[in-house]
Amino acid sequence: MRFLLLCLVLAVYTPFHAMAFRLVTYNLRFDSMPDNITVQQSLANLSNPLIQPRYLSLTAEQPWSLRRIRVAEHLISEGIILAGFQEALVRQVLDLAELLGSDWDWVGVGRDDGVLAGEFSPIFYKKTDLLLISNDTFWTSNTPFEPSKFPGAGSFRICNVAHLQLKTGSGTNFTFLNTHMDDQSDAQRQLAASLILYRARFEAVNTKNPVLVIGDFNSPPTGADSGAYNIFTGAKPPVAINATFAAKYAVPSQSPAFSMLDLRAQAPRRAVRSTFATFTGFTAASDTSDWQRIDFVFGGTNGGWTADGYKVESSRTDDGVLASDHRPVFADVSL
Ligand SMILES: *[C@@H]1O[C@H](CO)[C@@H](O)[C@H](O)[C@H]1NC(C)=O
Ligand SMILES: *[C@@H]1O[C@H](CO)[C@@H](O)[C@H](O)[C@H]1NC(C)=O
Ligand SMILES: *[C@@H]1O[C@H](CO)[C@@H](O)[C@H](O)[C@H]1NC(C)=O
Ligand SMILES: *[C@@H]1O[C@H](CO)[C@@H](O)[C@H](O)[C@H]1NC(C)=O
Ligand SMILES: *[C@@H]1O[C@H](CO)[C@@H](O)[C@H](O)[C@H]1NC(C)=O
Repeated sequence: MRFLLLCLVLAVYTPFHAMAFRLVTYNLRFDSMPDNITVQQSLANLSNPLIQPRYLSLTAEQPWSLRRIRVAEHLISEGIILAGFQEALVRQVLDLAELLGSDWDWVGVGRDDGVLAGEFSPIFYKKTDLLLISNDTFWTSNTPFEPSKFPGAGSFRICNVAHLQLKTGSGTNFTFLNTHMDDQSDAQRQLAASLILYRARFEAVNTKNPVLVIGDFNSPPTGADSGAYNIFTGAKPPVAINATFAAKYAVPSQSPAFSMLDLRAQAPRRAVRSTFATFTGFTAASDTSDWQRIDFVFGGTNGGWTADGYKVESSRTDDGVLASDHRPVFADVSL
C-alpha cells in the first residue's frame, strides 16, 4: 500500500520536478593554422593515457587538429547536454559533431553569408536529453535580418536562437541564445546587447518559459568597455535598435520589466569555483597580463530557472597545450 502510494506521488509529481543539467559556453579560437589532418587521424594519434607527458613542454597556439581532441575530451568528461561555441569555422563545427558523436546535433550558420562562410556561434545539444523545436539567427547590426556588419565593427556578428525542450524530468521548454560580440567596436557590443535583450524579453513574455543567454561579449563587466554587460543587466539603458526588429519582437506595453542575471552571481557561492578569467590568450602559465572575464551565462529575470553551480575551467593540459585562448565556462542549471 505504501509502495503504491509512493508510486502515485511520484507519478503525480515527477513531470514537474526541475531537471538539473550542465551547459557550457566556449570560444574555441578559429582554426588559424589549418591542416588536412582528419579527426580519425587525431584519434589514432592519441598518446597512451598511462604515460607521463613532458610537463608544460608546449606554450604557443597549437593547430586546431591538436586542440580539438582536448576540447572534446574535456566536454565529454563534464557531462554537458548543451553547448554554445564561438569562433568556430565550419571545419571546427563538423569536427566537434564527429567527436561528440551521434547523440549530438547542432544548429547555426556561418556569420559571413548565413550559410557556411565565416565563424559560427553554433548551438550543440544532446538529442537524448533535448528536443530542438525551432531555431533562427539574427545579425547584431543595423540590418539584423541579413548578413551584415555594424559600421566600425571588425566583423559580421550574429546571435543564434534555439527553442529547446527537456525530454525528461520537467519537460520544460526554454529559449537559448548564443552570441559573439565584436572585438573592436564598443558601439557594436552595446547594440548587440540591446538587440539580444529585446529578443530575450520577447521570448520571456511570449513563451513564459526560461530564457538563457550565453556568449563571448569581448568586453568585461566593469570599466570603460562594460556597456554591453550593463545594458544586459539593466544598469544602463539600451541603445536604439532597428525598427523592423523592434516591431517583430514587440511586447505589450504593460509587460513586466526584464533584464538578465549573471549566473556567476546567482549560483550559491560555495558552488562557484574561484577561477575567474575566461580569456587567457596563448601565453605561458605565469603570464596573466591579458586575462579577463568576458564570457558569460545569463538567465532572464522572468525566472523558471535556478543556478546550482558555476565554474570556469582551465583549457590547459599538463603538456602545456591550451585547447583555446579562452576557457570553457560551465553552468549547472535547473529548469
Ligand atoms: C589540404 O588539402 C587540399 C586538397 O588536397 C590542398 O589544396 C591544401 O593545400 C591542403 N592544405 C594544407 C594546409 O595542407
Ligand atoms: C601526433 O601527435 C604528435 C605529438 O602531439 C604531434 O606532434 C603530431 O603532429 C601528431 N600527428 C598527427 C597526424 O596528428
Ligand atoms: C534551424 O535553422 C536552419 C537554418 O535556418 C533550418 O534550416 C532548420 O530547419 C532549423 N531547424 C529547426 C528544427 O528549426
Ligand atoms: C532594419 O532591418 C531590416 C532587415 O534587416 C532592413 O531591411 C531595414 O532597412 C533596416 N532599417 C533601417 C532603418 O536600417
Ligand atoms: C513545448 O513546446 C512544444 C512545441 O511547441 C509544445 O508542443 C509543448 O506543449 C510545450 N511543452 C510545454 C510543457 O509547454
